[in-house]
Amino acid sequence: MNGKIALVTGGSRGIGRAIALQLAKDGCDVAVLYAGRREAADQTVSLLEAAGARALAIQCDVSDGEAAAAAVGEVEKTLGPIAILVNNAGIIRDGLTMRMSSEDFRAVIDVNLTGAFHMIRACLPGFVRRRAGRIVNITSVSGMMGNPGQANYASSKAGLIGLTKTVAREVASRGVTVNAVAPGFIETDMTAGMNEAALQKGLSAVPMGRIGKPEDVANAVSFLASDAAGYVTGCVLKVDGGMYI
Ligand code: NAI
Repeated sequence: MNGKIALVTGGSRGIGRAIALQLAKDGCDVAVLYAGRREAADQTVSLLEAAGARALAIQCDVSDGEAAAAAVGEVEKTLGPIAILVNNAGIIRDGLTMRMSSEDFRAVIDVNLTGAFHMIRACLPGFVRRRAGRIVNITSVSGMMGNPGQANYASSKAGLIGLTKTVAREVASRGVTVNAVAPGFIETDMTAGMNEAALQKGLSAVPMGRIGKPEDVANAVSFLASDAAGYVTGCVLKVDGGMYI
């Protein structure tokens, strides 16, 4: 993937940072978008540069369509035409359905699903014009299995699978592939807040008996972004230690 430009949303930490780093090791120059933590984003940029990549971090709320389009423009102006888009930005606002506010439902859909749509819409014209492009959307096994307390999150992630399959069909003849990666239970800030009982309960649902690492997800994204996956589109690749079989 030497010299290709990759854009990773939510690349300041966790899974997004691991994806950005793996793509840099694969030879890409990498831009990351992040919501708020400048220090974390700066640290990612330092790690990317240390891996030999040109790197850029832009603060951008992907749920804002105009901001998403502007960020894509800025990346292309600074680094060059984007070849790989990874929609990884995501949030949780868990709660039982009966008590979930409309605001918490909407906020999660806005970032996890509409945000990915905004990014895809902004990148696609260039991909189609150049007859090349890779889109990888980070969904979740929650969107495939359902998960109590995550009506908003599971809906957003299931929607992301529908988005993946639809766009894959729309642009398959234009040399653009669109796939999803569905992580299970991965060690990041998102899972760090869990108490010991919830952690053990979660782990008991994983046949491999261990929590996944961000790098496990990054390796799957690296494959789907590579030339080796040229005939793969519309697929959902689970990286979950067998959690959902
Ligand atoms: P994290 O909470 O550690 O990082 C989230 C990233 O998204 C951060 O870089 C943050 O700046 C960015 N972000 C949040 N809202 C944003 C917005 N409105 N605009 C732009 N960027 C925004 O999360 P983690 O665990 O690294 O998750 C990454 C992705 O993987 C998410 O889509 C998540 O749903 C998914 N995932 C995570 C799992 C896990 O067990 N950690 C399991 C399955 C899926």
